[in-house]
Amino acid sequence: MQDVFAFETKRLVKIIFVASEKASAGVAGVPIFDGGKLFGAAKSYGSDSKGQLAAAMKAGHFCGEKGTSVSVYAPTGSKLAGLLLKGAGERSKFDAEMFGAEVMQALRVSGEKTLTLHLDGLKLSPDEGARAAVGARLAAYHFFKYRTKLPKRRETTVTTLRVSVDDPRKARAAYQGFHGPVCDGQLMARDLVNEPANTLYPKSYAARIKKFEKIGLKVEILGEKKMKELGMDALVGVGQGSRRESQLVVMRWNGGKKADQPVCLIGKGVTFDTGGISLKPGAGMWDMKGDMGGSAAVVGAMHAIATRKAKANVVGIVGLAENMPDGNAQNPGDIVTSMSGQTIEVQNTDAEGRLVLADALWYAKENFKPQVMVDLATLTGAILVALGHEHAGLFSNSDKVADAFATASAGSTEKTWRMPLAAEYDRLIDSPVADMKNIGGRAAGSITAAQFLQRFVGEIPWVHLDIAGMAMKNTRLDPRETTLGTGFGVRLLNQWIAENYE
Ligand code: BES
Ligand code: MN
Ligand code: ZN
Repeated sequence: MQDVFAFETKRLVKIIFVASEKASAGVAGVPIFDGGKLFGAAKSYGSDSKGQLAAAMKAGHFCGEKGTSVSVYAPTGSKLAGLLLKGAGERSKFDAEMFGAEVMQALRVSGEKTLTLHLDGLKLSPDEGARAAVGARLAAYHFFKYRTKLPKRRETTVTTLRVSVDDPRKARAAYQGFHGPVCDGQLMARDLVNEPANTLYPKSYAARIKKFEKIGLKVEILGEKKMKELGMDALVGVGQGSRRESQLVVMRWNGGKKADQPVCLIGKGVTFDTGGISLKPGAGMWDMKGDMGGSAAVVGAMHAIATRKAKANVVGIVGLAENMPDGNAQNPGDIVTSMSGQTIEVQNTDAEGRLVLADALWYAKENFKPQVMVDLATLTGAILVALGHEHAGLFSNSDKVADAFATASAGSTEKTWRMPLAAEYDRLIDSPVADMKNIGGRAAGSITAAQFLQRFVGEIPWVHLDIAGMAMKNTRLDPRETTLGTGFGVRLLNQWIAENYE
């Protein structure tokens, strides 16, 4: 599927779903479950050498255990360059997406152009077949745009993926109708996070999103002048120390019934977070180019929603600003008036994400009267302390929406964990000189940040996802994650919208 971004990175171009058949070229992967039994068409590889595969498994002391594998080069009786026998553990716990990712990880640079995933004979659901392709695409993703001296052996050679399943027609439909476009959106989100701040700044970012009009989204860009008129001093204040102008970008998709109030997705898009005058330490600061991961999830999700023609009304809003220290930057102690009229004492200029979101949330609420709002943000380091890199923190004023997210989370493989909100926490951001302050002290840092946001959502059912530990790869050992940007959130949002609003 072509997208409207000029995608920089070379990526898998062709995905074909085929019925159980031997591959006639390239490389292939086949799952071997406990007990070492071969399924489907893969059984016929090496057949004329009377059990070449069985012999290889024996010689490799391999019995299908998860995490182990055996490679057979040039199996006789086939035109394959190589066959990967991938240990897949218990049949009942098989994860086709992980299988696709692991095989791609192993064979991405094999030198061959075609990779076949043998999943025939396993009677997988259409979704599982489609997700095998998704796993492979995620694992094939790299960000080599700025590498001019990439060693040849590190370049992805696989350009065609053949997924062999029992019912290719249904798997193809599941892929083209949902999983494929969602995966496109996720890879786009990765590109955005990986792009450095000298090329991706509020205006260049907004210009990229503007191109979405080609896929049927209405895109509106608000500059600082317009935002000032609307009273968005909290958002504009964050970018005032930067030479780059802040932007608010609104994407609209009307795929639902005319009368349906929209679902609003709101993203933090701090294209670089130095901390401002409350400057961050230098070590590791480079990763703060990814402080727009929440907005990237919204942008990728909107792209997916439009290309798969979702039957829902969805509005995506991203607040884009660069947080820099300079003579014009805001000072700790400054008091700003947000669009809501509420005043904020900016005690720490590094707690800038909530200032951006305060005005973006209020704008969403006032302009679109959404039936539900979700914001995504790389908001606090404290969420990493609480949940590490395994779950996004989920905060909500609605048990119903929180439960719907838990279901979507399980279905999308993007994990979330619900965190509390309460008046006792809210008290911690009261200020003696303004309506609130933007930090709540060391304790419960992610919760006080969420309490701050809640002061700008009114009665609208709302979910806040703190994705600081998820938007950027860290200690996770996941073959689907290969670069800093993970694209976290795109799948979750699409799953949730598909399950509840279409
Ligand atoms: N962008 C950071 C949060 C962050 C930290 C994202 C690590 C990704 C990885 C955010 O703007 C920030 O600086 N938060 C402060 C808040 C504090 C000053 C109350 C933090 O977490 O230290
Ligand atoms: Mn910050
Ligand atoms: Zn930040």
